Amino acid sequence: MIIVSVSENRELEKRISITPEISKKYINLGFEVHLSQSYGDHLGFKDEEYEELGVKITDDEKKLLESADVIIQMSLLDKSKTSILKPNQTFIGVLNPYENKDRIDELVKKQINLFSLELLPRITRAQSMDILSSQANLAGYKAVVEAFSVFEKAIPMMMTAAGTIPAAKVLVVGAGVAGLQAIATAKRMGAMVFATDVRTASKEQVESLGGKFLTVEGSENLETEGGYAKEASEDFKKKQEELLSETLKKIDIVICTALIPGKKAPLIIKESMLENMQPGSVIYDLAAVQGGNVAFTEVDKIIVRNGVKIIGEANILNKLPTSASSLYAKNVFNFISNLFDKENKKININLEDEIIAKTIIK
Ligand code: NAI
Repeated sequence: MIIVSVSENRELEKRISITPEISKKYINLGFEVHLSQSYGDHLGFKDEEYEELGVKITDDEKKLLESADVIIQMSLLDKSKTSILKPNQTFIGVLNPYENKDRIDELVKKQINLFSLELLPRITRAQSMDILSSQANLAGYKAVVEAFSVFEKAIPMMMTAAGTIPAAKVLVVGAGVAGLQAIATAKRMGAMVFATDVRTASKEQVESLGGKFLTVEGSENLETEGGYAKEASEDFKKKQEELLSETLKKIDIVICTALIPGKKAPLIIKESMLENMQPGSVIYDLAAVQGGNVAFTEVDKIIVRNGVKIIGEANILNKLPTSASSLYAKNVFNFISNLFDKENKKININLEDEIIAKTIIK
């Protein structure tokens, strides 16, 4: 069995799917690993390092893709490359099936086994494969670091002979994986942290990290059975707006992470609310690509409104690609270990396994 990964378009994606550490694990499992030339060069992983571990490196991507049994990427490849694929090959990545529907349908018709890892069920057995969690965790951390670096005041309280600087006040909107890591990071750096979410369960988690939970009074718990958020009612939105409008008057930095699976991100910080914020405040909108939680958010731009900087980036993980690749590569390895029939040395698409059934695209 040959596992292949080819270089991503590095302008858009700096993460890789197979690190040297993980290539060794695939080889130990019985796979051959073939990669394109300079695959991990930009992260300091030289071709020679891979070759010493037994990986085959080649500059002929067409041959690489033709010879593969399993192809692992971050996302769907360009059409010029997917057109090379043949029936019964397995392609694994974050394929964004809702946006890439036509291209994915074409590949399914061609009998390529497509697995999209953002569809993994949030069950205990799948935790080690959960790419959404591993990447969101890093994104939450990095959003805080980025926002703090743009903020023109100190973060922790400082008592000096010249006077006292108060601690910066941070609001985290959405306390899921990214939000909880944002809270932990901001606390570690000395900020006072507030957070809000539509799921009641998140209150305890926020408080266990030392954050203050802002409860939308009289609201019901908007959590689905799968643990995700439901879209909020008009009544909830109104009450949340009142609560946040008041809170934002004293907040210096906002980290937005609120998402609803399969839908556009909810607009939470409206134009009128921005007027309540003090000039010099910073908002980092991690939901930018899904439409943003903030009025005026634009992807890959810093917009300034009323002296408030609103930052939205297409892929914050490109700012820590080595850590993000390390976790992604491990997640995918764990997924493939579950998919691989070690006795018969073949990919076993057992649809009775919830992990396989939920991630395969049919
Ligand atoms: P997500 O990335 O889909 O959403 C981020 C957060 O935004 C969520 O906490 C959501 O409730 C919140 N949100 C949505 N609309 C909002 C609004 N209008 N106002 C305020 N907040 C809003 O969610 P994520 O981070 O992927 O996790 C969601 C759930 O999945 C959590 O319960 C988490 O504990 C659970 N989970 C379970 C795992 C497992 O393996 N068992 C692994 C990872 C997450």
